Amino acid sequence: MVIPNIFFLFLLHFHHLAFGNVALNTILSTNDQNAPWLSPSGEFAFGFRRIENTNLFLLAIWFNNIPSKTIVWYSNMPNPAVPAGSRVQLTPTGLSLTNPQDQATWKTGELQGDVSYAEMRDDGNFVLASSNSSYLWQSFNNPTDTLLPNQTLPLNGMLSSRFSQTNYTKGRFELYFNEVIFLLSQIAWPTEFRYNPYYEFDATSNDSVSGLVFNSSGIMYIGQTRVWDNLVLDVRRNYYRATLDYYGVFTLYSHPKESNEAQVWSVAGYVPNNICETIFGEMGSGSCGYNSYCSWDDNNKRPTCTCPKGYFLVDPNDNFGGCQPDLPLGCGADDVRSRESPQDVYDVEPLQSVNWPLGDYERLVSYSQDECKISCLNDCNCAVAISNTAKDCWKKRLPLSNGKFSASSESGTTALLKIRIQPLANLNHPSWKPALIGSLIGSLVIIALLVATCVAIILMKPKKTTHHVSSLVETNMNSFSYEALKEATNEFNEEVGRGSFGIVYKGTLNSMTNTVIAVKRLERLAEEREKEFRNELRAIGNTCHKNLVRLVGFCDEGIHRLLVYEFMNNGNLADILFGKFKPHWNQRVNLALGIARGLLYLHEECDTPIIHCDIKPQNILIDEHLRVKISDFGLAKLLHFNQSQTHTMMRGTVGYIAPEWFKNVSVTAKVDVYSYGVMLLEIISCRRNVEKQMGEVDEEEAILTDWAYDCYMEGRIDNLVENDEEAMADIGRLKKWVMIAIWCIQENPDVRPSMKTVMQMLEGLVDIPNPPPPPSFDTNV
Ligand SMILES: *[C@@H]1O[C@H](CO)[C@@H](O)[C@H](O)[C@H]1NC(C)=O
Ligand SMILES: *[C@@H]1O[C@H](CO)[C@@H](O)[C@H](O)[C@H]1NC(C)=O
Ligand SMILES: *[C@@H]1O[C@H](CO)[C@@H](O)[C@H](O)[C@H]1NC(C)=O
Ligand SMILES: *[C@@H]1O[C@H](CO)[C@@H](O)[C@H](O)[C@H]1NC(C)=O
Ligand SMILES: *[C@@H]1O[C@H](CO)[C@@H](O)[C@H](O)[C@H]1NC(C)=O
Repeated sequence: MVIPNIFFLFLLHFHHLAFGNVALNTILSTNDQNAPWLSPSGEFAFGFRRIENTNLFLLAIWFNNIPSKTIVWYSNMPNPAVPAGSRVQLTPTGLSLTNPQDQATWKTGELQGDVSYAEMRDDGNFVLASSNSSYLWQSFNNPTDTLLPNQTLPLNGMLSSRFSQTNYTKGRFELYFNEVIFLLSQIAWPTEFRYNPYYEFDATSNDSVSGLVFNSSGIMYIGQTRVWDNLVLDVRRNYYRATLDYYGVFTLYSHPKESNEAQVWSVAGYVPNNICETIFGEMGSGSCGYNSYCSWDDNNKRPTCTCPKGYFLVDPNDNFGGCQPDLPLGCGADDVRSRESPQDVYDVEPLQSVNWPLGDYERLVSYSQDECKISCLNDCNCAVAISNTAKDCWKKRLPLSNGKFSASSESGTTALLKIRIQPLANLNHPSWKPALIGSLIGSLVIIALLVATCVAIILMKPKKTTHHVSSLVETNMNSFSYEALKEATNEFNEEVGRGSFGIVYKGTLNSMTNTVIAVKRLERLAEEREKEFRNELRAIGNTCHKNLVRLVGFCDEGIHRLLVYEFMNNGNLADILFGKFKPHWNQRVNLALGIARGLLYLHEECDTPIIHCDIKPQNILIDEHLRVKISDFGLAKLLHFNQSQTHTMMRGTVGYIAPEWFKNVSVTAKVDVYSYGVMLLEIISCRRNVEKQMGEVDEEEAILTDWAYDCYMEGRIDNLVENDEEAMADIGRLKKWVMIAIWCIQENPDVRPSMKTVMQMLEGLVDIPNPPPPPSFDTNV
C-alpha cells in the first residue's frame, strides 16, 4: 500500500509541474508543525506556527531559511490565534480553517471559480489556482502587517499592525490610502475609527498610480515617487520586507540570505522620521500607551517607552501598553475630612525634557517653576504640570497622552509629576468585634488546616530522595536561573527595599501569568554556610501561613543566591504606623494579632521551628487587605552570629534586639518574643521605640519601652495613646496589651512568655499577672 501512495503523490506533483504545489483536500494540522507547505526554493513556508509561550497557533507564512523564521502573513481575522488541534484544509471552495470542534473559524472567502490546487510561491505569495492556473486568491492581495518585494498594496488595500511583538490580534495602527496619498493613522482600538493621520506620503503626480508598489528589485514607490530615496538594495544577497510595526512605524527591513553573515533584520528605511514627535493628536495615546513617554532610539530606529516615576506598566509584558499610577491620584483619592495638607500626601518629581503635548486644562503665565509646582500640588485635578523657561505653566489631567522625551525639541521643559508619598489612604474598617469573633473561630480552623498540612508534608517527605535539589523541588518552590530573574527584574532595575542581607527588587514572572514578585539578592553569604542556605530554604519553603510572605522560589547558581517572594503592594508596618495617617485602633489590633499568629506558626506549629531573629516593623509587609505578612524569616540564621551582631549595631536598630544577643549565650525563639514586645508597644502608640528627633518628645519619653513601663506603673496608660478615642474606648484591652508587651521585653528569656502564651493572652484566654520591670535601655547596650 505504501508504494502506490507515494507514487500517487509524486504523480500529483508531476501533474502540476511545480514542487510548491498543494493538492486538493490536503489537510494541515497544528500537530504537524514540522511539515509546512514549502515554496520550491524552501525560502517560504505556509502552515501553523506556535505563538511564543502559549499553546495557541497562527496560520501563517514565514521566511523559512533564516533562524528567526519571521512571519510575513497570518490569517486576517480579529484574533488570529487558534487553539491546538485546529486544522486547515484545501477544498474546491478555498482554504478552510477549523477548530478542534470542527467549526469553521476562517475561510478565504467567496472565490470566482473552483480551486484546483494551491501553491506556495518563491516570492512569498501563497496562491489558490483554478484548473487553468489563473489565481483565485492570493495572500499578496490579503496582506496583514507586511509587504514583500513583488507585492503591491492596491489603492483600496490596507495594512494593519499587530497588537504587540507576539500578539497578532489587530493592533492600533493602519496604513491606508486617500486618493493617491498613503496615510498612517492610529485607530480607536478596538473599533475601526481612525484618528487624524500622523503621516502622509503623497505621490507627486497621479499618473498610473496603482497603489503602493514594492517591486521585485526591492524598490517601493507610488506612481513615479519612491518612498525611500537613495537606498542601495540587493535582492540577490538580501531578503526584504516592509512592515507596519506594532508601534506605528512603517519600516523597510533587510536580512542577509547567507548564513555566514549576521543573522538579524536591520532597518533600511522607515517613516515617519521620529514617531515620538509626529503622533500628536487630541485623542489616542500615541506610539506608547497612556501615561507613558516615548523616546526615539536612533540606533535601533524605533521608539522606546518609559513609565515615569510613580507609574508602572499596565501589562508588564507590553512596554507599549501604557502605564498607571502606583497609587491613586486625583480628586476623591483622599479623605478631605482628614484635612491633611497635600504636601504631606504628595511630592512633585521634576523630569527634564519630557512633555505630554495637548490635553492641558489650564495654562498659567508668568509662573515660576516653584509656583507651578505648588499650584499642581494643591490642585487635586492636576497630575502633571509642564513648566518651561518662558515661565508658562500648563496643568494636565490623567490620562497623559503623546508623551515624549526629546533633548532637542523639549529642552527647557520640565515636567513636574505629582507622586503620592503617603502609601495608604485613611482606611475604614467599621466594626471589628464580629470580626474578632470570626477571626477567633477562623484561626482555630486555620490552625487545624496548618497542622494537617504540616503533617501531610512530614508524611510525604521520606518518600523522596534526600538529594538537595529534588528535595527543594518537593517544597513546591521553583528553581530559577539567574538569567530568568535578571530578566524578570529588568536587570535589577527597580529597588523596592533593602534588608539586612541584600537588596530587594520588584519583578514580574511572565512564565507564571505575570505574577509580580520581590526578588532579594543575598550578599554576605559565607561560603561554608551553603548547606545552611539550602536547609533553611527547605524550612522556609515548607511554611504556609497567611501571615507569612510566601517564598515562590530561589536561585542557586554559581555565586548567585536569590530568593523570590510574592510582592506586597502596601509597603511595610513602619510606613503605616509612623506615616501621616495613623491606622485606626481596630486596624492596629488586627495587625498585632496577625504578627503574633505568624510568629506562633514559625516557632511552634510546623515541623522545623524557625527563629526569625530580625522582627521589626520594616520586615512586616502589608497586603491589599491590610493583612500582615512577616518577611525575611529565617534568614538571620544564614549569617554568622558575629556578623549579625556587628551589622545590626552598625545600622543602629538596637531597639528591637533582645539583650542576650549581646551576651555570648545561645539564641532561642525568645529573641523574637522580645522584638514582638517592642513592636507591640509601637503598634499601640504609633511611635518608634527610639524617636530619631529627640526634640519632639520629653526626655523621659525618649525610649518607648522605658516610658511604657513608667506609664503602666503610674496608671497613666492613656498617655501612650494620646487622644486616640478609639483606643481609649477599649481601655481594658489597651492595658492588658501593654502588660503583655512588658512581659515580652523581660531581660531573662526564660521569664518571657512563649508566643503561644502571648497569643492566648492577646486573645484574652488567660489572665495576665503584673509584669516585673523590663531592663533599662541604658544597661542593655
Ligand atoms: C480560468 O478559469 C476561470 C474560472 O475558473 C475563468 O474565470 C477564467 O476566465 C479562465 N482563464 C482563462 C485564461 O481561461
Ligand atoms: C512576481 O509576481 C509575478 C505575478 O505573480 C510573477 O509572475 C513573477 O514570477 C514574480 N516574480 C518573482 C521574482 O517571483
Ligand atoms: C492579544 O491582546 C488582546 C488585547 O489586549 C487580548 O484580548 C488577547 O487575548 C491577546 N492575545 C494573546 C494570544 O495573548
Ligand atoms: C489627477 O490629477 C489631475 C490634475 O492634476 C486631476 O484632474 C485628476 O482628477 C486626478 N485624478 C485622480 C484619479 O485623482
Ligand atoms: C523596480 O523599480 C525601479 C524603479 O522604478 C526600476 O528601475 C526597476 O527596473 C524595477 N524592477 C523591476 C524588476 O521591475
